[in-house]
Parts: sequence; C-alpha cells; structure tokens
Amino acid sequence: MAEIYRASTTAPVNIAVVKYWGKRDAKLNLPTNSSLSVTLSQADLRTLTTATTSSSFTGEDSLTLNGAPSDISGARTQACLRELRALRAALEEKDASLPKLSTFPLRIVSENNFPTAAGLASSAAGFAALVRAIADLYELPNSPTELSLIARQGSGSACRSLFGGYVAWQMGSQANGLDSKAVEVAPASHWPEMRALVLVASAAKKGVSSTSGMQQTVATSDLFKERITNVVPKHMKLMEEAVAARDFAKFAEVTMKDSNSFHSTCADTYPPIYYMNDVSRAAVRAVEAINAAAGKTIAAYTFDAGPNCVVYYLEKDTAAIVGTFYNLLASTEGWKDEAKSYASGGVQLEEAVATLIQGGVSRIIQTGVGEGPVKTDQHLA
Ligand code: DP6
Repeated sequence: MAEIYRASTTAPVNIAVVKYWGKRDAKLNLPTNSSLSVTLSQADLRTLTTATTSSSFTGEDSLTLNGAPSDISGARTQACLRELRALRAALEEKDASLPKLSTFPLRIVSENNFPTAAGLASSAAGFAALVRAIADLYELPNSPTELSLIARQGSGSACRSLFGGYVAWQMGSQANGLDSKAVEVAPASHWPEMRALVLVASAAKKGVSSTSGMQQTVATSDLFKERITNVVPKHMKLMEEAVAARDFAKFAEVTMKDSNSFHSTCADTYPPIYYMNDVSRAAVRAVEAINAAAGKTIAAYTFDAGPNCVVYYLEKDTAAIVGTFYNLLASTEGWKDEAKSYASGGVQLEEAVATLIQGGVSRIIQTGVGEGPVKTDQHLA
C-alpha cells in the first residue's frame, strides 16, 4: 500500500489595531498600508487543518470545510497551493531520495472551534492554517515570515495569523510583493495581560465584503489618501512604541482612532459603506463610559468590516469591562464561569445605550492575546 503523508496544525484569529484597508495590487494582495494586529487565543478561536497526500490519491486537490466540500478553484487558494508545491518541488529536485509529494493530490480538511454564527471572519485563521499545515506536510524549512508571503495571497489579514502576540504586516514597496510580509512585533509573553471581549452584534454575512469594500474606498475616497499617507504611518509608529512600552492608554487611543479613521474612509467611499450600526455605536458609548468612570483609558473599541465590537483591556481591569457588559447580557451565550463574579464591578450606562446593547448583542467571546500556529497530532479525517 502506498504511504499516506499527513500534517495537522491549528492557527489563530487576529484582530487589527491598525487596520489593513486597501490594495495596491489585487492579484498579489499587496496593501496600500502597513497594519498591526493582536493574535487571539486559540483556546477560544482557532482553525484546525489537516493536510494529507499520497501517490494513491486520484483526482483533484480537495478541501472539506466544517464538514462540507468547499470550492478551491478560486485564484487565491490556487495561488497558495501553487507556491507551496513549487517550494516542495525545489526540495525534491535537490534531494532525489525525497518522495515526490508535490506531484500528488492534496486532501485538506479544516474545522473552526467557534460557531460560524459567531459572525467572525475566519479567513485569516483559515488561510494561515492551510499554509502552515501544507508547509509542515511538505517539510518546508521556510520561516513564518516567508510563509506569510504565501498566506497573504489567500487573504491579506491571514499573513498576520502565522505569528502569535503582536504582529505587523509590513506593506513593502516592491511590485513582486516579496517585501510585503508579516513580522513579530512582540511575542504574547511580552504583554500577556492583554484581553479581548468580542460583542457579536450580527452573525449575518456582511453586506459589503472586505475585498470589494476596500477596492471601492481606494477608487473613490479622498480621505483615504490622507489615511494611507499620514494617519497610518503615524499610528504604526505610535502602536509599536505602545506595545514595546506596554503602555495601555497609548495602545488604546491609537486602536480607537485607527478604527474611527478606517470607518471614516468607508463613510467617505462613494457610494458610502457603513459597517458599524446602532449597536456598534452603543458599544463605543459604553467603552467611553467605562473610561470616564475610571478616569483613565482602560478599554479600547475596534471594529472590522462588520458591526461586531472588539474591546481590548488589561486583565487587571476585568471587573470594570466584563462587569459592565455582564450586567446587561448575563443570559447571553459565551460567558466564562468567572464572569459572574465581576457583575458588581460594572459601570452604569445610559438607558438608551444599555437598551441597544441588550437588544443587539447575540453572543460574547471572552478571550485574550495568544500564540501562533501549533502543530498537532489531532488529525481530521
Ligand atoms: C477590516 O484580509 O479579509 O479586517 O485581503 O481581501 O481577503 P482580503 O481582505 P481581508 O481584510 C481585512 C480587513 C479588516 C482589517 C484588518 O484585518 O486589518
């Protein structure tokens, strides 16, 4: 019987604090600006992917996603598979004793540990896991930064999910994209107290996809030019300083301003794009109330291409943040057992804000900063 080769990995979700929004090259997925993200813990959010190959496999490459066959004929997935195969083929060429895995069909099976109804974009974790699992299957010696060039072509934000902790995607300047890559800014252990509370405001598939939304912004927004020329370079510098110094107030201010800046360019897109809704805006008010009551900035909101709010805070301030939202949403799914013990620590919110949050948040994800992809023996069949 022909040998079966197999490798499995898990990969994390990341949420940007300086946002990627805009492509200068849609085919290679090259961005108009650098970005920076926090990798979230895989205990709460992760994709597990198994890549298998064998000379006995026939037919095309295949992908099974959350139990259902998934189309991999798209240019982005094909680009990832082609590049990984080329790296393997180069190894096989140098060492004739290696099995010719690059010539066999791939069977990829992938599952998320969070419900699709969590309303979280899973493409970052998905492409990072796919690239890492196949790289392990092919025993590629390439570093996470080198692999990030491949994951980037699957989905831009995926390149940042090849690392844990605090991660920058350097936009690069070359036309071939070889310098548009992810690098570690700091490992999770540098600032392990970082927590994130995700308020799921809608599990619905988003109205305007990131890919098409950012293309429209690049093409029509004048404000966007100011963002990529001045705002983002300033935010990248301040954010790197904030992470290095573990300065939460600075981290939080840049996070909130960058989210506001990104959503302003969406509103300046013609026709305008609105990702945040009334529930999102109520979450902004709640974070402002928490900070006002504390007399300093202990919580930061950020929003991606949808209405869900991610609140970053430090572990020591859990009572104020978790307490405030737990009081409103005690019966909502997703709380960890200890959340109840913080109920007395919360802040009183204006009635209109409280009502919107109660009526609009369907799920909570309580998590924190975490590690990058992990190789595992837990294989998916
Ligand atoms: C708002 O990485 O999903 O979440 O490269 O077209 O796949 P594609 O876009 P994607 O865009 C993410 C946009 C964002 C900001 C961010 O994650 O930096």
